[in-house]
Amino acid sequence: MKVAVFNTKSYDQEYFENYNEDYHFDFTFLETALHEKTAKITSGFDAVCVFVNDIVDKETIRILAENGVKLIALRCAGYNNVDLEAAQENNIKVVRVPAYSPEAVAEHAMALILTLNRKTHKAYNRVREGNFSLKNLIGFNIHGKTIGVIGTGQIGAAFCRVVQGFGCHIIAFDINENKALNDLGVNYVSLDELFETSDIISLHCPLNQHTKHIINEVSIAKMKDGVMIINTSRGALIDANGVIDGIINKKIGYLGIDVYEQEENLFFEDHSEHIIKDETILRLLAFPNVLITSHQAFFTKEAMDKITTTTLENIKSYVDGTTLTNEVKA
Ligand code: NAI
Repeated sequence: MKVAVFNTKSYDQEYFENYNEDYHFDFTFLETALHEKTAKITSGFDAVCVFVNDIVDKETIRILAENGVKLIALRCAGYNNVDLEAAQENNIKVVRVPAYSPEAVAEHAMALILTLNRKTHKAYNRVREGNFSLKNLIGFNIHGKTIGVIGTGQIGAAFCRVVQGFGCHIIAFDINENKALNDLGVNYVSLDELFETSDIISLHCPLNQHTKHIINEVSIAKMKDGVMIINTSRGALIDANGVIDGIINKKIGYLGIDVYEQEENLFFEDHSEHIIKDETILRLLAFPNVLITSHQAFFTKEAMDKITTTTLENIKSYVDGTTLTNEVKA
């Protein structure tokens, strides 16, 4: 089985090579992203392995099919970057890693909350420079606050469990309620009530046509003054321009994002010696109450183990002709 692994970073290669000792697939590790212009290099491969920012659209899939690719193995949970209908039409199977470590993402969401609130990133730098002043470092107690969780699947539920330990009032919105969370004290409310009453809003729903820009000018206007918004899900859940206005007029008190709508041109790479031309991210970076991480919420040893082993098992199931338990269909 010849597999082209796109968007490979050194850590991907390390984990895949390590676990592949038991599978013996023929991996070719490519640094480039997969999109319609790079799809032509898949000639001779049986499968492609892709990540969150590869663009597996209709045209890309047409070229993959022409080149004989039969399997798209996502090494992530979200599949909004794959045209599933085009894959089906071209007889290409799509598999993913449905849950590699919900706790990894949930814990990172809490890390963003704690850092934004208690400003440990600023304190660290200050103290290293001999500045022991507390000026402007004041935070607030998370205990007793209302946390609104949008999307209570694997990650949202893990986040509720983390937040419960802080003694918060947890409210949630999901199109499919998770009854098990009621026992944890999570109350499902309407989306409007969540916007109106939450001190902190954390996004854990997938990106689709219903959730795109769910945080926008209109929803922001409904929120409490000084609200904290956390997004570890997908960048396009947030309308960045609406959020920038919300920060400028002090409606939004804090923004923590691990994902960004235009992240494919920036994230996962070192741009420290380049002129960044994306005005929106530059504006966001200039705010003192915005914290941005580069899509690292998933990045724990446990999650990398699970991503790699599940991807290898997904490919093995395809080779063996057994049921593709992690298949995603249109
Ligand atoms: P999941 O499928 O277990 O849960 C998603 C939940 O969102 C489900 O309960 C679903 O009913 C709900 N949902 C769907 N449409 C909704 C809507 N319109 N409004 C409210 N809720 C809605 O997915 P999981 O594993 O919890 O992952 C959630 C998202 O997290 C993924 O789609 C992915 O975009 C993102 N993610 C981010 C990572 C990172 O490193 N930053 C890593 C892994 C996932």
